[in-house]
Amino acid sequence: MRIDQNTRLFGLIGHPVGHSMSPIMHNAAFRALGQNAVYLAFDTTDLQGCLLAMRALGIQGMSITLPYKTVVIPLLDEVDEGARRIGAVNTLVYREGRLLGYNTDGTGALRALEERMDCAGKRVLIVGAGGAARAISFALKEKGVTLCITNRSVKKGEILARAINGTFRPLAELDKEGFEILIQTTPVGMFPFENPNPVPENLLRPGMTVMDIIYHPLNTTLLRTARSRGCQVIPGIAMFVNQGAEQFRLWTGLRPPMGIMTKAVLRVLGPFDTPGGSNRTGRGGQGKRDLP
Ligand code: ATR
Repeated sequence: MRIDQNTRLFGLIGHPVGHSMSPIMHNAAFRALGQNAVYLAFDTTDLQGCLLAMRALGIQGMSITLPYKTVVIPLLDEVDEGARRIGAVNTLVYREGRLLGYNTDGTGALRALEERMDCAGKRVLIVGAGGAARAISFALKEKGVTLCITNRSVKKGEILARAINGTFRPLAELDKEGFEILIQTTPVGMFPFENPNPVPENLLRPGMTVMDIIYHPLNTTLLRTARSRGCQVIPGIAMFVNQGAEQFRLWTGLRPPMGIMTKAVLRVLGPFDTPGGSNRTGRGGQGKRDLP
């Protein structure tokens, strides 16, 4: 990689950021397209200082992760309507002296699904009601799907269901609902904790599409169980790379090299199709979309 006086700086702001896969993914993309640019991870407790640095140094783009996705909003010059509706920003663009905020999580999840199927008119179950569930639900709603939310805390689940004109059902009460798509958005099953399946097996029916947004391990217990029950499975890395690709597009205006970005992450996390393969790796991310 050539670094000189013209190198453009991009990065990630969060706390912690030590396990992020984004530097590997974005630097692979910059290299592949011959961009004189570099992406670094900044573990910081000074969000305002980082925004000042972006303005002072002309840093053109940043990913934003926990714990700053919401608190950054009032500090920006402009927030994209989608991000405002979700209530969280995961991408900053510094353009013509203005700091702009976007959220690419929902688009990333939607693209991951649409690479494999047409979502329009489908019955979708979202497991969880946090920030990621919110981003995904709003993106899917635009596609005219029927949404049902299930969540550990009833109140939070009901609030999200209302916001997206969907329904809420406690997990224990779901059985023969005939969902065509299930999207798992909670941290249950994420490395390095035990790897339980957050979804009762009787919900997993042949022909159903099951997406887990956890990407470490790649083969979560949910995905392995779903595959064994005849479901089509979509690993979390699909959403992760798609949300990163959307960031790359916002920053550079270029078409992101998706294959190269995916391969760069898989080189660290291990192959998806090797049963248990991803569980063996000691390196890599904490494995959720919150750590872009
Ligand atoms: P994110 O922004 O990454 O989605 P979040 O806002 O903290 O994270 O939301 C995490 C979601 O996972 C929530 O829906 C949470 O359920 P509660 O609303 O009941 O807290 C869910 N979640 C977290 N840990 C869980 C667990 N051990 N079992 C079931 N659900 C869990």
